[in-house]
Amino acid sequence: MEKYLGKKNVAVFISGRGSNLKSLINYSNKKKSLIKIVLVISNNSGARGLNYAKRSKIKNYIIKSQSKSIFENKSLKLLKKNNINLLCLAGFMKILSGNFIKKFSWPILNIHPSLLPKYKGLNTHQRAIRNKDKFAGASVHKVTQKLDSGKIILQKKIKILKMDNSTSLEKKVLKIEHEIYPKAIIKFLTNH
Ligand code: GRF
Repeated sequence: MEKYLGKKNVAVFISGRGSNLKSLINYSNKKKSLIKIVLVISNNSGARGLNYAKRSKIKNYIIKSQSKSIFENKSLKLLKKNNINLLCLAGFMKILSGNFIKKFSWPILNIHPSLLPKYKGLNTHQRAIRNKDKFAGASVHKVTQKLDSGKIILQKKIKILKMDNSTSLEKKVLKIEHEIYPKAIIKFLTNH
């Protein structure tokens, strides 16, 4: 990707609540932000996060298909049509194929609720509590073909307290997710 020149057109893929999408929209609405969110795609018609896109008048689409290749082909067309140059996954529950990653050819970022490389995949908070970890956190990383394994752009950690359970921990980590995703995008776009 070439060095930052003007605002990047960003697409966000979601599957559910969309609180990270909301934090990215808030950042993108800032005058000096490096991005403009121009497209939101959900693979789930019930995703509450779609409301944030609607409220901000961002183009939004539901692509509901059991077939990964149909979802990917339809979204690739939309990404191309909207001149997207950065794709952010935010609570997107599908695993993108290597073919999609290759064909898109622009960077893809994801936010993950653990201190990667620890706890790739699901149930990160339960696993951290079960293992009596001292710290938990969130990571923004580049998406590659290997799940939750791409280069880490930014991480933030918090202490796990004795009284924490997976619900309280999830709440605290989500708060730092909202903080670090925009920061990671700035870091990524300015260092790239
Ligand atoms: C977040 O914890 C994100 O890290 C994980 O799924 C959750 C999505 O939350 N991948 P939201 O939809 O952004 O509120």
